[in-house]
Amino acid sequence: MSKIAILGFGTVGSGTVEVFLKNKSNYQKNMGQDVDIKYILDIRDFPDSPYADKLVKDFNIIVNDPEVTVVAELIGGNTFAYDAVKQALEAGKSVVTSNKELVATKGAELLKIANEKNVSFFFEASVGGGIPIIRPLQQCLMSDVITSITGILNGTTNYILTKMIKEGAEFSDVLAEAQKLGYAESNPEADVSGGDACRKICILASLIFGRHIDPEDVYTRGITSITKEDAEYAANWGGVIKLIAFAGKCGESLEITVCPSFVPLESQLSGVNDVFNAILVKGEATGEVVFYGKGAGKYPTASAVVSDILNALKHGNKNLSWEERSDENHVVDYNKQKHRFYLRLEGVSKSKIKELFGEVVFLSRKNALEDEVAFVTPVICVEEFEKKCSDLYPLGKIQIMD
Ligand code: HSE
Repeated sequence: MSKIAILGFGTVGSGTVEVFLKNKSNYQKNMGQDVDIKYILDIRDFPDSPYADKLVKDFNIIVNDPEVTVVAELIGGNTFAYDAVKQALEAGKSVVTSNKELVATKGAELLKIANEKNVSFFFEASVGGGIPIIRPLQQCLMSDVITSITGILNGTTNYILTKMIKEGAEFSDVLAEAQKLGYAESNPEADVSGGDACRKICILASLIFGRHIDPEDVYTRGITSITKEDAEYAANWGGVIKLIAFAGKCGESLEITVCPSFVPLESQLSGVNDVFNAILVKGEATGEVVFYGKGAGKYPTASAVVSDILNALKHGNKNLSWEERSDENHVVDYNKQKHRFYLRLEGVSKSKIKELFGEVVFLSRKNALEDEVAFVTPVICVEEFEKKCSDLYPLGKIQIMD
């Protein structure tokens, strides 16, 4: 008999309990053993919960119970969750988690402990909600050399951008809706600032390129300054605006960024809408592979958590690990990267723009203000671009996804 403990009875925690208990008899048949949830840890009271007999408030009860072999950490954050996961691994229990912050910042350390203790540390639900991506990268694509990953990795911002662009909805209204639907983080600042997508691309990049990538080393910009005017210009250019997370090889180093981007309509990522995420992986032998599905929400995320629990029970330690971050930072400074950019300005002549940026492509939209001008630059070094922008006070400034 294997017993499981769930830490956190919020959106993902309660979804995990529901999915697990609904399908428990299938799991038992499949695993050839009895499996059950023994504890649910939460500091809050749930007097009317049908699981009152499982609810506890003291983590020591779980960590000291030898019957518990798998702990699912679904609390989030990096304080209590970090201590609890470390203690559980050190006590010889497998841990599964949906906690992006924890994996992105402490992944190397926790994987090392798990490997030393010969237990699992799985985190499929930390990237892409219900989309299988971690295990396919670790297993199905392990023969290939992955050269880049480009993803829409945050469901909340994709939902907001879709509603703003397609329905003309207001940013704050759609964010409130995304919170109600259980897509957003408890502090949605992490979603809209790009921080959540940054943690996810760091996890994928660490896994693929074998060395810990710290979120602090990644240039990250969110979607708060995007307007309907920018979306109209994107359409005129032949694309849509998406929050794009990118990690790719650049010689011996890596380029990693998270920023709103014009995505051309020909790209498979341009049609990814609402809460859906997509991850486009490029491999030397495989070419392009796209993973697509619901990137946030109670049940898609819970399904990934339960699969990790079952994998930990059935297959035991199959962790891949990555090296700790080295002193020598191998992420290319964003200022040294080269990209094309879209700019929207007021009161600057086209001749001045050509003088500054060279062969630009001017864009148009219906009902543009008289002195409004929008264009896409040729490829330019970011540092040089920012210098040229500093006197122009752009109203819109977005990278182009090439
Ligand atoms: N807030 C996250 C998102 C949840 O919107 O993608 C899933 O990680």
